[in-house]
Amino acid sequence: AVKNIGVVIGSLRKGSYSKAIGQYLKDHAPEGISMETVEIGNLSLYNQDYDESGEPAEYAPFRQKIKSFDGIIFITPEYNRSVPGVLKNAIDVGSRPYGSSVWDGKPALVISSSISNQSGFGANHHLRQSLAYLNMPTLAQPEVYIANVQECFNEEGSLLKEDSGQFLQKVLAAYLDFANKII
Ligand code: FNR
Repeated sequence: AVKNIGVVIGSLRKGSYSKAIGQYLKDHAPEGISMETVEIGNLSLYNQDYDESGEPAEYAPFRQKIKSFDGIIFITPEYNRSVPGVLKNAIDVGSRPYGSSVWDGKPALVISSSISNQSGFGANHHLRQSLAYLNMPTLAQPEVYIANVQECFNEEGSLLKEDSGQFLQKVLAAYLDFANKII
């Protein structure tokens, strides 16, 4: 059964709403489920030359960490109608060397949010495209688009809207069910 879930967050911002969503999920994880946020802000920009010349020291522990999880929850804002570069970089680092991607087969959940009513649809679906290629079975329903996220959480991470909390708990339960069928 699923036990350890990695949380990968597409924002490095201190007061990030994506981080607030991650913290809420962690605080409401069912008994026996551990959730850990993975550091991605320290990963050097991927350069394929590293395949030959040796890699930055932080890559190996990052890959080991991702490998240790039963599933991955991605929580991302949208930057310019797509996935923030910091998140894409982490995906790329984890996918290499070719043939030993640490993402392979891990069940995923995608959560996008935005401070407008557009809810990060572009980021959500660009991310799904990469996850499909990386052989990560990804929960299809319920979809998780959090619009006007600043009305759901504040920048200190406190929940402002009970409905959003209920919804996120429902999503987490659906994801864990889904992941348990896969691993
Ligand atoms: C944004 N933002 C944004 N929002 C959106 O809905 N669609 C978009 O395409 C963009 N593009 C964008 C680009 C860049 C470079 C920045 C910095 C911001 C706004 C974004 O949703 C907002 O800053 C969120 O608060 C970012 O998420 P975190 O940091 O709160 O998790």
